Amino acid sequence: MPGSQVAAVRGPVFWTRIRTILKNAPLTSGENQHGRQASARASIPIKTPEEIERMRVAGRLAAEVLDFIAPRVRPGVTTAELDRLCHDYMVEVQHTVPAPLNYQPPGYPPYPRSICTSVNHVVCHGVPGEKALKAGDIVNLDITVIKDGFHGDTSRMFCAGKPSILARRLIDVTYECLWRGIDAARPGMHLGDIGHAIQTHAESRGFSVVREFCGHGIGTRFHEEPQVLHYGRPGTGLRLEPGMTFTIEPMINAGRADIKHGRDGWTVLTKDHSLSAQWEHPVLITGSGCEVLTLSAGAPPRPPAAP
Ligand code: MF3
Ligand code: CO
Ligand code: CO
Repeated sequence: MPGSQVAAVRGPVFWTRIRTILKNAPLTSGENQHGRQASARASIPIKTPEEIERMRVAGRLAAEVLDFIAPRVRPGVTTAELDRLCHDYMVEVQHTVPAPLNYQPPGYPPYPRSICTSVNHVVCHGVPGEKALKAGDIVNLDITVIKDGFHGDTSRMFCAGKPSILARRLIDVTYECLWRGIDAARPGMHLGDIGHAIQTHAESRGFSVVREFCGHGIGTRFHEEPQVLHYGRPGTGLRLEPGMTFTIEPMINAGRADIKHGRDGWTVLTKDHSLSAQWEHPVLITGSGCEVLTLSAGAPPRPPAAP
């Protein structure tokens, strides 16, 4: 059950709550849950070759849900319809489990749908509903599947009709931010290098980085350690080692970084109502760099090298 995959509460937390949960996690005593030696920083799981292969399968399947839904994101479609189509594709075609459905981190109500649909000034965790997309809307679709006990978690931006120049630019810069983070994800680098790469790019373009939500370790659990902040200082934080798997998922706002929470207990919005964009890939740290786990035929290519 996805609902049982919630990380245990360990003190006051973060992910605006999910995130906080992970931040204050007590360290395990050098052994992870499989009884193997944990990484130097205890409690950061190092995946075995067998686990890595299952992460690759789950990641590819999550990406393929986005490929499937892409042509259906058009003016007039409701986000509830996109949710239903993705749900049925996951369950009936892929035989995967939609991880969001009934997901309930401590302090949250159970998530009522199978995907997240974050439109325009919704930062993340937008709950699908009966409102139709209109021409010019931008929307993040965030898919997490469970296959064979492992999670694949990826999101992309889509446009219904033609976006404004600002929206197009925000989407493109956010995608560049994701890839700058991916390029900093190498053994021997630190989590702060990833955050720094993302933050400097976003801010140099006049945009801001949401602070309350972060990327996360991923595996048999939806959200595990470490927390992957999208801002930071070079050379700080966890040192990356081969076998770590975590997401990078920058949320970038056109206006100020501040957020507020919707009444449904899930939806996160920009406080100033400015547009927000997000892209997400999980990566595996390898011996020489990283492997992106959620590539598929329809995933956009890496952006051209920065000027
Ligand atoms: N997929 C989101 C992430 O990237 C988490 C969504 S939690 C949900 O971590 F319950 F809203 F689905
Ligand atoms: Co994620
Ligand atoms: Co996600």
